[in-house]
Amino acid sequence: MSTVRSRPVIGAGVNRVDGPRKVTGAAPYPMDFHVPGQAYAALVQSTIAAGRVIRVDTAAAEASPGVVTVLTHANAPRLERAPVNRLGASPPPPLQDDRILHHGQHIAVVVAETPEQATAAARLVSAEYERTEPLLDLMDPRAPQVDDPWGMDHSRGDAVAALTTAEVTVEETYTTADNTNNPLGPFATLASWDGDHLTVHDTTQWPFVVRSTLATVFGVPESSVRVLAPYVGGGFGAGLRVWPHVILTVAAARVLRRPVKLVLTRPQMFTSVGHRPKSVQRIAVGATRAGDLVGIDHRSISPVAMEDEDYEPIASGTAFAYHCENVLTQDRQAHLNIPNPTSMRAPAEAQGNFALESALDELSYKLGMDPLELRLRNYAEEHPVHSLPWSSKALRECYEVGAERFGWSARTPAPRSMRDGHWLIGLGMAGVSYPWYAADCQAEATVHRDGSALVRSAAADIGTGTYTVMTQLSAECLGLPLERVRFDLGDSDMPAAPQAGGSGLTAALGNAVFDACGRLVKRFAALAARDSESPLYGVAPESVEVTRGRIHPIGQPDRGETYADILGRHDLMELTANGYSKPRSQDELGMALSGAFGAKFVEVRVDADLGLIRVARVLSVIDGGRILNVKTARSQIVGGTVGGIGMALFEDTVTDAPSGRIANGTFGDYLIPVHADVPDLEVVFVGDPDRGSPIGTKGVGEIGLVGVAAAVANAVHHATGKRIRSLPLTLDALL
Ligand code: MOS
Repeated sequence: MSTVRSRPVIGAGVNRVDGPRKVTGAAPYPMDFHVPGQAYAALVQSTIAAGRVIRVDTAAAEASPGVVTVLTHANAPRLERAPVNRLGASPPPPLQDDRILHHGQHIAVVVAETPEQATAAARLVSAEYERTEPLLDLMDPRAPQVDDPWGMDHSRGDAVAALTTAEVTVEETYTTADNTNNPLGPFATLASWDGDHLTVHDTTQWPFVVRSTLATVFGVPESSVRVLAPYVGGGFGAGLRVWPHVILTVAAARVLRRPVKLVLTRPQMFTSVGHRPKSVQRIAVGATRAGDLVGIDHRSISPVAMEDEDYEPIASGTAFAYHCENVLTQDRQAHLNIPNPTSMRAPAEAQGNFALESALDELSYKLGMDPLELRLRNYAEEHPVHSLPWSSKALRECYEVGAERFGWSARTPAPRSMRDGHWLIGLGMAGVSYPWYAADCQAEATVHRDGSALVRSAAADIGTGTYTVMTQLSAECLGLPLERVRFDLGDSDMPAAPQAGGSGLTAALGNAVFDACGRLVKRFAALAARDSESPLYGVAPESVEVTRGRIHPIGQPDRGETYADILGRHDLMELTANGYSKPRSQDELGMALSGAFGAKFVEVRVDADLGLIRVARVLSVIDGGRILNVKTARSQIVGGTVGGIGMALFEDTVTDAPSGRIANGTFGDYLIPVHADVPDLEVVFVGDPDRGSPIGTKGVGEIGLVGVAAAVANAVHHATGKRIRSLPLTLDALL
């Protein structure tokens, strides 16, 4: 297989190709689209968490100005359940019966001529309920539980026995809070039917799954559904599923035979598009006096909605994080009457890493050993589960480069030993071994008569820089300057692409683009090789490369011709090639496919009198394989770090008991870091292109967040001597 390994590891930090369109308002987000004749929908949501709706009174709403219809469970169309996809199924379709499973469940949708009329009329809908006692407490023994929901529980050796005989052990319970994804762009859907043909503008990280889901739910062929999402205002996992509000909008448009648009309100963003579920984690780690890990036992429980599933294997990352012969991980879910949890940036790992990396910090104090030295001593040179070499792993370099740049050696180990006036100073760190989601992908590359290129795939760019890095990669593979290449995405009529999620899109799509562009160059070379007028006559298509738009024999840039020359002589307007990528299995590779690795170093300052916690410095050293664009990749790590600071110090979606209502579902009440909470963040990339795929990238979309919470908590302990095992860390816990 040919590779691009000879190219530089770090790709140029070019500015976003879509930047000007975004900052001038020319980039249309899903809520910006308008179709002639469109009506507007507004949701009515349950005010109880469990029971039945006895009666929904829609008379006042129906009589309200501009209202064209009100759908409830009594008159909504019967719909099929969404199919299971690679990441699980989407939630069941709404308004199919009278049961209430959570507060905020959609019980009606009001459609009117204007958004204001729909919103006003929705307030006139009233409901009578029969209440039952909701299950809201994760530890409630009545909550139906699922053991090992993903078949990922792990056991090697005998962790329980090893821990009973270990010389030094730490056994503690750590908890993390419900967090809400809260992308900046409110989710929006605009649906229009033309007979059995459906066009949907939707906020999604995965146009293809919206297409297949809506086709099944509405009983039409996939080919008659088109999903468009050229721009999406963030997702953080909320756009990985097809939510009930999307189905309601499409259903209303079908019933009315006119286009319908729905934009969620910010409070609805807390109840309708998922959230990171809280967790309770019991973890025991045991070591010899010398600091060799002998056993790890990590068990989690987290909530899931009453009739839903959610991929959240919280403890499973512990299985491959360190060299240790006796490891047990177990995950369990409890069904509660809560709005549906879903993936949120680094699902499961974000929570699991907090427990593991906090417990190791505690162990280091019991051992009297530097926390960094403990990680290095138990470094997993090969994959601990598969006993195979990693396709790449520069975690040791992450630790070493990080310690040097951060000035770790200046840290005095004793808690409360570093001080600046009334500020207690604490330095903490955490290691991260991150998996990523590998998927198949397709792309199509075309070069036109004028020598410009268009490369396309049905992926989404959720703000991560996909347009930009794929333009760069296409330009590199086609030997064209950046401004001669356009990359297009966000349309399910384009070649199939997987989700923008699981830190997997860049690798899947990049390898498909690499394949498509490589095939296209060969098509041009094959045409030229058969053409006696071409300077490439008789040259094998495998023996060419492209420099500044000229195809030439490898190493002979003066001999050759341009794409346009070849098209012109053959009287062709364009030439196209399709490319495909499929992740190779570890059996094929003889290696364990590596995700990204990272080391996080944090300095906190804690007010000695008030307990106020300030994050003063964060250094992230990341092995992300080949980095296609150092600027957008750094932005991914910076954004993830801000999310990590949020998880550590602020974010907590509070459910009121016994109503089950989310009590802080606004940006005024749900705390996220503001500029004053975020110091200058330093990001360093280390490592080599990964050996697991031709382009050598690994995912950097999620690892920026993971480890920050543990590093902050460990730094707070170093500053104050207080170990807080529950997120978010708030000042009351320090007083
Ligand atoms: Mo991410 S939680 O896979 O969007």
